[in-house]
Amino acid sequence: MEILISPSVLNSHLSALADEVARIPSADFVHLDVMDNHFVPNLSFGLPVISDLRTKSDKPMDVHLMISDADRWAPAYAEAGCESVTFHIEASENPAKLIGQLHALGSRACFALKPATPIDPYEELLDAADMVLVMTVEPGFGGQSYMSDMEAKIARVRELAAARGTEIWVEVDGGISPKTIERAAGAGANVFVAGSAAYSAEDPDKVVEELRRLAAGVNRP
Ligand code: DX5
Ligand code: ZN
Repeated sequence: MEILISPSVLNSHLSALADEVARIPSADFVHLDVMDNHFVPNLSFGLPVISDLRTKSDKPMDVHLMISDADRWAPAYAEAGCESVTFHIEASENPAKLIGQLHALGSRACFALKPATPIDPYEELLDAADMVLVMTVEPGFGGQSYMSDMEAKIARVRELAAARGTEIWVEVDGGISPKTIERAAGAGANVFVAGSAAYSAEDPDKVVEELRRLAAGVNRP
C-alpha cells in the first residue's frame, strides 16, 4: 500500500497559512486540525480559514475534525473541496450515514479513534470508510510523545480489514518523527501526520522526504 505523508500545520505560522503549505511541495496532503474547544480543550481554525486556503493552494487537504456534533459540521468541509474529511467516531451519532454523505459530496470519508477507543465495535465501518485515523496522542495539541501502545490497535485495524477483504488506509497522528515513523509503519500504518517534526525544522520538505524514505524501508504487514 502506498506511503503518504501529511504534515500538520497546527504549529506553523498560521497567519501565513498558504505560505506555510507552500513549504511542503513533496507532501501528499496537508493535514488541517480543526478544534472547537469542546471535543478537545483547544481551539484552532475552522471552515472560513480552510475555504480561503482552498483558493490559494492546490495541495490535497486532509482535514481532521476534532469537533463535537460531526454529523452537523463535517459535510461542509467536503462541500468546500477538501479531498479527505476525518471525523471522530466519538463525536458522531450516525457514522455510516455521515460516511455516505461525505462520499456523495466527493470527498474521502474517514473516521478517527482517540487512544481509549477500540476499533472492534466499528468493524463494519471498515467496508465503507476510506481511512481510519489511529491517534497516537490524546487529540488537542501538537508536540506530544508518540504512544507506542497504539501499535496493537493499528495492527488490529489491518487484521480486521484483511479478514473482511477490504482495503483501507490507516493514518497515524501524534508524535510521528524520524524516530517513531518506522514503528508505526511496521505496525501497518501507511499515512503519516507529522506536525512539530516537520514545522520545527528549518526545511519541512526535507523532513517529509526523510519520513517517506524511512517508512518505505520498513517491511509492512
Ligand atoms: C493533535 C493533532 C495533530 C498534531 C500533531 O491533536 O491532531 O495533528 O498537529 O502534532 P505532532 O506531530 O507534533 O504530534
Ligand atoms: Zn491531527
